Amino acid sequence: MKIETKISIKNAFDLGSKSVAFFIAEKFQEKDLAALSKATGVDLGQFLKDSKFTGAQGSVAHLPVFGKGKTITYLYFAGLGLQGADKKLSLETLRRSIGSVVKAVTAKGFESLALELPEAKSFGLDVDYFTAQVTTIVHIASYKFDTYITTIDKKDRAKVLEVTLCVGASEQKSAKSGNEIGSVIGQAVNRTRDWVDTPANHLHPTALAEHAKKLAKEKGLKCTIFSEEEIKKMGMGGLAGVSAGSVQDAKFVILEYKSKKAKAQTIGFVGKGITFDSGGLSIKPANSMEEMKEDMAGAASVINTLAALADLQPDVNVIGFAAITENLLGGAAQKPGDIVTFYNGKTAEIRNTDAEGRLVLADALSYAVKNYKLDAIIDVATLTGACIYAVGPFFSALLSDNDELACKVQQAAQHSGDYVWRLPFTLDFKEAVKSSVADIQNVGNPAIAAGTITAAWFLRHFTDEVPWVHLDIASTAYNVPNISYYGKGATGSSVRLLIDVAMNWKK
Ligand code: BES
Ligand code: MN
Ligand code: ZN
Repeated sequence: MKIETKISIKNAFDLGSKSVAFFIAEKFQEKDLAALSKATGVDLGQFLKDSKFTGAQGSVAHLPVFGKGKTITYLYFAGLGLQGADKKLSLETLRRSIGSVVKAVTAKGFESLALELPEAKSFGLDVDYFTAQVTTIVHIASYKFDTYITTIDKKDRAKVLEVTLCVGASEQKSAKSGNEIGSVIGQAVNRTRDWVDTPANHLHPTALAEHAKKLAKEKGLKCTIFSEEEIKKMGMGGLAGVSAGSVQDAKFVILEYKSKKAKAQTIGFVGKGITFDSGGLSIKPANSMEEMKEDMAGAASVINTLAALADLQPDVNVIGFAAITENLLGGAAQKPGDIVTFYNGKTAEIRNTDAEGRLVLADALSYAVKNYKLDAIIDVATLTGACIYAVGPFFSALLSDNDELACKVQQAAQHSGDYVWRLPFTLDFKEAVKSSVADIQNVGNPAIAAGTITAAWFLRHFTDEVPWVHLDIASTAYNVPNISYYGKGATGSSVRLLIDVAMNWKK
């Protein structure tokens, strides 16, 4: 279902939309519903009491009533929970309420929805930022991956859900600009999810690189794509090694956004793009392999973030790097015990061919820090299964030895709703990737256990002295439970975060 969002200063119920949503905080007063009760001719206080709707976080009630001209309008009531100690409502609770409503409305196939939005100031927020958040989440909640379901007819596929955000007259101007920003962000998140959800037989490395090229052209970004032959020639032994078992051509993609601001700083985003991870000769068990089409989520995030930034025009230059290949088995595949040499001349012993992400990132990171003058570098990768156990599905893991940059990214996470949790990254863990036959090894010493942290130490060997943050999104990229605006499959995690980092970059 396509989605279109717009702003109105009318009352939501007066717009004639097929569905209308109201957001209600806990401990609401019946008199707050008086005007709507009058308009609908229904005692809504009574209805909500009968439905045991309290306004609690996650609660939703719905009721069909007569709308204009005796048509039926579906009313939705969604809870906003209690005010916090700061007397403010929670934006994340609103995101989830919107998520529940949009999912319900799209499941019914309704084509219009009006949201009677609470005031931005009851959340302690500016109208433009608040509206951008609402629009972003409307887009995210409306996403469904159904490209390959052949029983959906053309007419249904072409359906558009028109969502009207109803705001106060004084908020209109800011809300309009917020809505535009939110649409760009929401579409970037959903395009990322679409690529991640697309299975590996329909999205091989060349196809992913082609997507990047096409988007770059559309948005006016500079795009450079290196082929496997060039990758080998440049000495990227990590990316070439992982690619050895695949008949597909590996790709190294670079997208560049140049800010109009004079003397702007430059930041790099680097994504892991394994279009399928079988584990290679250190093959994964069948159930762990099932979802490994998701292993290009980092690259998809980076590419789509760059596309969004071309529209949003932040005051910082941003370079996106994506290391793209498949990790398969075969006569030519990389073997445990192999030693590879990376772009920066360092060597690694391959102990386990399933720890392939760090190998392709090593080359991408070294290429980025050697060829660009970067003020910061952030890599994003579905890097370790351990991450899921370390932080659970509601946070991406953040690792860094640079507190200032880590802090910036943590703030962007809080601001965008794309949450991170920082893990320890002390020197003690560095020991874990020492090798006796090469500079480093691609698995951590089992005595030091923490796989997410030791993987980050591997990457640290390739970032020189550029302030660096590593984001492990293995926890958040796919099948996040219980968050109403996501649902099954890809989430597009880290897109909202990276966009926020660039948009709020200071200096
Ligand atoms: N792509 C996987 C990590 C992963 C696991 C992502 C589950 C999403 C969900 C990565 O390449 C991998 O296989 N990592 C290994 C590393 C180990 C061999 C040191 C892992 O986590 O088991
Ligand atoms: Mn792997
Ligand atoms: Zn992988």
